[in-house]
Amino acid sequence: MSGAEAVLKAVEAPLFWLGAATAAWFSVCTVYRLLSGLRVWFLGNGRLVSPAKLGQWAVVTGATDGIGKAYVEELGRRGFSIVLISRSQDKLDDVAKAVESKYGVQTKTIAADFSSVDIYSNIEEGLRGLEIGVLVNNVGISYSYPEFFLSIPNLNSFIDTMVNINITSVCQMTRIVLPQMVDRKKGAILNLSSASGMNPLPLLTIYSASKAFVDFFSQALQTEYKSKGVIIQSILPFYVATKMSKIRRPTLDKPTPERYVRAAINTVGLQERTNGYLPHAIMAWVTDLLPSSLFRSYVMGMGLSQRARYLSKQKTG
Ligand SMILES: NC(=O)c1ccc[n+]([C@@H]2O[C@H](COP(=O)([O-])OP(=O)(O)OC[C@H]3O[C@@H](n4cnc5c(N)ncnc54)[C@H](OP(=O)(O)O)[C@@H]3O)[C@@H](O)[C@H]2O)c1
Repeated sequence: MSGAEAVLKAVEAPLFWLGAATAAWFSVCTVYRLLSGLRVWFLGNGRLVSPAKLGQWAVVTGATDGIGKAYVEELGRRGFSIVLISRSQDKLDDVAKAVESKYGVQTKTIAADFSSVDIYSNIEEGLRGLEIGVLVNNVGISYSYPEFFLSIPNLNSFIDTMVNINITSVCQMTRIVLPQMVDRKKGAILNLSSASGMNPLPLLTIYSASKAFVDFFSQALQTEYKSKGVIIQSILPFYVATKMSKIRRPTLDKPTPERYVRAAINTVGLQERTNGYLPHAIMAWVTDLLPSSLFRSYVMGMGLSQRARYLSKQKTG
């Protein structure tokens, strides 16, 4: 037997066991993933999200359109009384009336502009005395079009507005509502991050970073308050057909807000960090497989062509 053959013979058995152990590990991981997926996406029913289990009132920011309005509808359907917070009183009245008459639940409205930071004592006053079981930190804004950081129109005020709406609102609303949830040892805070917060998105830099903040804030806070009985969930949707995304025709991967929220609410108590909707979870899984540099340059290319289209429309229009 030659020297090389002897070496091969010596490593044959360890290599076989290493291969077998790796295959077993991947099989166990795949089965675990499939079973958890089955539990979340097919057996989950959001049974926990009820006034009896969490508290009578739900508070929704950005409640008059899109995903926020869909949460109002779904929480109303589940019997919660609802506090709606958005800018425009007329729109608030319309949505509140609709949910009251459809589900016979109580509502309260607070008109507040989250681009300001002096609104929170008024909100605190409006929420005083209510047993709040659910807070949906939904309000958020994005760019009108993808743009280089230094070329964003009115950059100075844009930064303040986006930070106040996308970040400060989440921290301040949590500051106001969390203490009573901790006292009662129950409650759920549902924070709308975004798939844009899972990976850095060039040309949407401030938005993407603000949503990563929401995601980190939620995960860290959940770790702090899990033992106090409070659920804090980070929700990371891909596109949903709303005014913000400018998508008019819903598709399977770009659902209506109602369809998205019905799915997302079923994950409460099952996933602390969720894409909220099976097709979005699959998209996140595929994105995770890509090398991040490849993903970032793909997004940069897509952003550049959207930017070019938007700017040329502005010129011709
Ligand atoms: N749509 C998507 O594809 C998508 C994807 C990932 C994550 N998200 C996140 O989901 C959340 C909701 O998005 P959406 O698409 O449903 O948005 P949307 O359709 O634009 O609705 C935004 C809501 O926020 C309110 N609002 C906007 N600016 C406000 C301000 N300064 N003060 C108070 N209220 C304000 C709007 O009502 P008024 O204008 O009447 O105030 C409206 O009710 C956001 O945090 C967003 O980042 C959305």
